[in-house]
Amino acid sequence: RNMLEEEVVKKFYGENELRRMYLEFFESKGHLKMNSFSLVPHNDNSLLLINAGMAPLKPYFTGQEIPPRRRVTTCQKCIRTGDIENVGKTARHLTFFEMLGNFSFGDYFKHEAIAWSWEFLTKVLGLEEDRLYPSIYGEDDEAFDIWTKEVGVPAERITRFYRDPETGECDNFWEHGAGPCGPCSEIYYDRGEKYGCGKPDCKVGCDCDRFMEVWNNVFTQFEGDGKGGYTELSQKNIDTGMGLERLAVVMQDVDSVFDIDTMKAIRDKVCELSGKSYQKDALDDVSIRLITDHIRSATFMISDGILPSNSGRGYVLRRLLRRACRHGRLLGIAPGFLTELAQTVIDGSKDGYPELEEKQEFIKKVIRKEEEQFDKTIDQGLGILTEMKENMVKEGIKTLSGSDAFKLYDTYGFPIDLTKEILEEEGMDVDEEGFKAAMEVQREQARKMRKTTNYMGADVTVYESIDPSITSKFVGYDHLEYESKITVLTTEE
Ligand code: SER
Repeated sequence: RNMLEEEVVKKFYGENELRRMYLEFFESKGHLKMNSFSLVPHNDNSLLLINAGMAPLKPYFTGQEIPPRRRVTTCQKCIRTGDIENVGKTARHLTFFEMLGNFSFGDYFKHEAIAWSWEFLTKVLGLEEDRLYPSIYGEDDEAFDIWTKEVGVPAERITRFYRDPETGECDNFWEHGAGPCGPCSEIYYDRGEKYGCGKPDCKVGCDCDRFMEVWNNVFTQFEGDGKGGYTELSQKNIDTGMGLERLAVVMQDVDSVFDIDTMKAIRDKVCELSGKSYQKDALDDVSIRLITDHIRSATFMISDGILPSNSGRGYVLRRLLRRACRHGRLLGIAPGFLTELAQTVIDGSKDGYPELEEKQEFIKKVIRKEEEQFDKTIDQGLGILTEMKENMVKEGIKTLSGSDAFKLYDTYGFPIDLTKEILEEEGMDVDEEGFKAAMEVQREQARKMRKTTNYMGADVTVYESIDPSITSKFVGYDHLEYESKITVLTTEE
């Protein structure tokens, strides 16, 4: 048999290898490989953090900006914190992930996107065709025909997903707030019965871990207003996304994202530092997974210039670091461990993100400082919270008052979800509305103080007070050096 025709079989690839293989494949299809954009959105107020590969590319989809090439491929750093309370509790939730993507801005459309996704999965990675199941948007007969007639997938292996008649939602219509969106065709991989729920109707779309969505081809042809209104875009685009961690789960044939090579290195380090073993004790596992995830997010966020603070992105970072600190305590790890773990993250991912290594001293300094600061108050705060809990038990109350939660936040640096999480462990909760109200009262007081003393405090209001017509423009694609004028300068974050 001709060597060239030799069948490619599925084998173990590390995360860094998979990232490289994907980007090289799409370079070979005429795409420009671009570095991941920062996690901090640029000129996009609709997002706190970049949450998908396409997010930093929105202006190219809408035609607002000219892309450097009409075919682009990236591996984008992403953060999604919507499910943060599940992180650690399950083996599939992550706050940080990498998304591989190939994009067409008014260039190729469905035919090529579908064919190349199949080619990459089956011919480059050697995934078994009979384990792959494409799905399509209910009415998208064009995609159905491409899958069946051009790619040759039997019709019965293709699932159509329709919009829910009540909510209007659909798994195969991709949109995230306002912006470019459209129907999609996702590809699932059957990981085998051992990962299944065993129910007789278990199939593509089931919530269990058997059929894992690995690839999403979005046919970006609409501009959504975020409220259900769509206008046709003048150019048809492609936005594909494949979670690198998930792909690694499939290729490495491991149980979960916490078992893939780079994540396992962090997980092992947590175990080494704590003297615990993974999968010995369910509660320890929650802490081990949570720390593994959060330190990854935090390290990448800081490398993109985000600093812990009490608002916006800085607060997301602070929550992640403080939750990780507390879970370190639960595992009995000595303070100061997060800095060491950050090094493991850096070593594992510097191949794809050289900035991690370049900024390693800075990253570790920021983490060390935040950890030290929190360590000073965490014991006191935990002591106070224990007293509060005891009083609640005595009084037969199950909900901590908003003002007490605020005291923990304001004096001891306990983010609300940390307090919530600790209470949840004992079947209690927090009056979140009361917490918000207490926070608002304090903000109002601070605002008044600023007015009378003319003091510019570290608050988002610094930015709010900037004339919105002052914007900045990114010219880095066309220039290596550029002269510009500083219009506004602030010492506050
Ligand atoms: N935007 C789509 C997603 O995030 C495909 O990249 O799934």
